[in-house]
Amino acid sequence: MGGKNEHTTFATRLGGIAAAVGSAVGFGNIWRFPYITGRDGGAAFLLIYVVAVLLLGIPMMIAEFSIGRSAHRNVVDAYRKAAPGTKWHWVGGLGLLVAVLILGFYTVLSGWTLRYTFVSLTGDLHGGEFLGFVSDTYQPLFWTLLAIFINASILLGGVQKGIERASNIMMPLLALLLLVLVANSATLDGFGEGVAFLFVPKWEDVTVQTFLDAIGQAFFSLSVAMGILVAYGSYLGDNTKIGKTAISVAALDTLVAILAGVVIFPACFTYQQEAGQGPGLMFETLPTVFEQMPGGWPLGAIFFLLITLAGLTSCMSIFEVPISYLQEEWHISRRRAVLVSSIYALAVGICCSLAMGAWSDFKLLLPTGHGWESYNLFDFLDNLTSRYMMPVCAILTSILVGWYLKKDFMHDAITNWRTDSGWYLRPLLILLRFVAPALILIIFVANLL
Ligand code: PHE
Repeated sequence: MGGKNEHTTFATRLGGIAAAVGSAVGFGNIWRFPYITGRDGGAAFLLIYVVAVLLLGIPMMIAEFSIGRSAHRNVVDAYRKAAPGTKWHWVGGLGLLVAVLILGFYTVLSGWTLRYTFVSLTGDLHGGEFLGFVSDTYQPLFWTLLAIFINASILLGGVQKGIERASNIMMPLLALLLLVLVANSATLDGFGEGVAFLFVPKWEDVTVQTFLDAIGQAFFSLSVAMGILVAYGSYLGDNTKIGKTAISVAALDTLVAILAGVVIFPACFTYQQEAGQGPGLMFETLPTVFEQMPGGWPLGAIFFLLITLAGLTSCMSIFEVPISYLQEEWHISRRRAVLVSSIYALAVGICCSLAMGAWSDFKLLLPTGHGWESYNLFDFLDNLTSRYMMPVCAILTSILVGWYLKKDFMHDAITNWRTDSGWYLRPLLILLRFVAPALILIIFVANLL
């Protein structure tokens, strides 16, 4: 494909890593990981999580990067090129659909973080406002619109001058903000208690659920099975080492998650707040903590800026999946593709935002082992993608690279067409053939029960 739709690559290796880390580091690291770690056995959970990342997360990342990088095409065409003349491109289509559905609510979430950053910057941050804010009809819509606008302005710049440049600025900034918060955390009275809660291994808290949580979190946190890693993989240069890239991204993602815990728990212990998970932690508990903390004004603002950056770079990566698809498969310019995706995101975003308030009585159903569960649109899209579609997409991807394609496919991908060492091909293939599908199947079934 020539002309204006020629497929580009990241300008530098580091830029590619920054973009992939930007996608990986998101709300999952900040509002989910610390809570699960504290609840599921501290360092015991951490150890199990690291094993899950090694056995499942990294192999799946390598597989998706390889599919993208071998084709240098959008997610659907990348699967098509991997297995021409077959139906495997439907798996790419499924990845695209997951991205498109997540996009529907993720911009709303990003909008909430923008609102909290704004009020914390103006010194107006208060706990206890969350439910009133999200169920309001107009306010969240304004912030969702702003989130989409910011995303679109970055994405219009393209892969190198948009995504890569933004990631190269935002990721170091995120690291700096995180370090400031960690340093502050060390001065709090509850530091020892908070850190102990996170890190002292409590094997007695480890249950079957702990393993399921670790696998699910590894999967979600690394942005596997959403088309993202295929799309970003397609922008990796032909001399980029895929294995090394995946390991760097996974290591940095885990580090950020752990440091987020070091920020959150000591603060909650110091101000006697229960640290739960989900939006409640970020938008209720922590504003209450920052209200009481000396220096709460700059610190609260720093914290919400951090979350905004984490959310924005993840949101960008989700947007890129349909944008690259539209550009290449509909043969339209990047500008148009950004416009179409933004209008779509706005339309669904409005519905998801209203689902938290005015339209909350409108319910959708999902099947489980014990009957149907009803959700508002926001939670429906979240559950539909994470519990049903992503496991299916991931299992099929591991079967494609592990069983259907000749082992030359992965061999070429990890050795950059035999110019580099591929000593880990055998263990990688074993993981992709047996371990990954088995683990994913287990969480898929367990989540339905
Ligand atoms: N990896 C992200 C996280 O940990 C998940 C995600 C990425 C969700 C991109 C949406 C878009 O939060």
